Amino acid sequence: MTLAGDTLTISVTVNGETTELTVETRRMLSDVIRDDLGLTGTHLGCEHGVCGACTILLDGRPARSCLMLAAQADGSEITTIEGLASTDGTMHPVQQAMHDSHGFQCAFCASGFMLTTVALLAAEPKPSRERIRRELSGNLCRCTGYQSIIDGVETAVALIDTEGSDR
Ligand code: FES
Ligand code: FES
Repeated sequence: MTLAGDTLTISVTVNGETTELTVETRRMLSDVIRDDLGLTGTHLGCEHGVCGACTILLDGRPARSCLMLAAQADGSEITTIEGLASTDGTMHPVQQAMHDSHGFQCAFCASGFMLTTVALLAAEPKPSRERIRRELSGNLCRCTGYQSIIDGVETAVALIDTEGSDR
């Protein structure tokens, strides 16, 4: 990290691509992701750590990008929703499962839920419905009542099991 006045230069790997960014010291990671990198699939709802819409994966773990300074991500690997699908456009099993299960309605919350799910299934490939509920409890959805999202996670578990996917 290089500091110059009230800006600094950080290095981050975003969706597999390492890049250097010069940002103001006070800028939030969510704003840099959306405005500087153009990755607008990271949504902003509450902007104070409550709704989970801004969730990204930071070194494989869910993180609320609205609560982090961009400077705190220096040297990290970031995955946003844009990084889940294959380069040929094939959806990640979690995306495919949510699509097949009609998991979302407006989908404002979707990227946060799906990235949280990816981290959950990496840690526990066959979670109980109770564990799924617990792990997703920090993500809010104003449309669905959550049942279809939980169903979608269970569909993802079955899909990954069937495909033997390690993604
Ligand atoms: Fe970050 Fe709501 S926008 S938690
Ligand atoms: Fe609309 Fe979740 S589907 S907020």
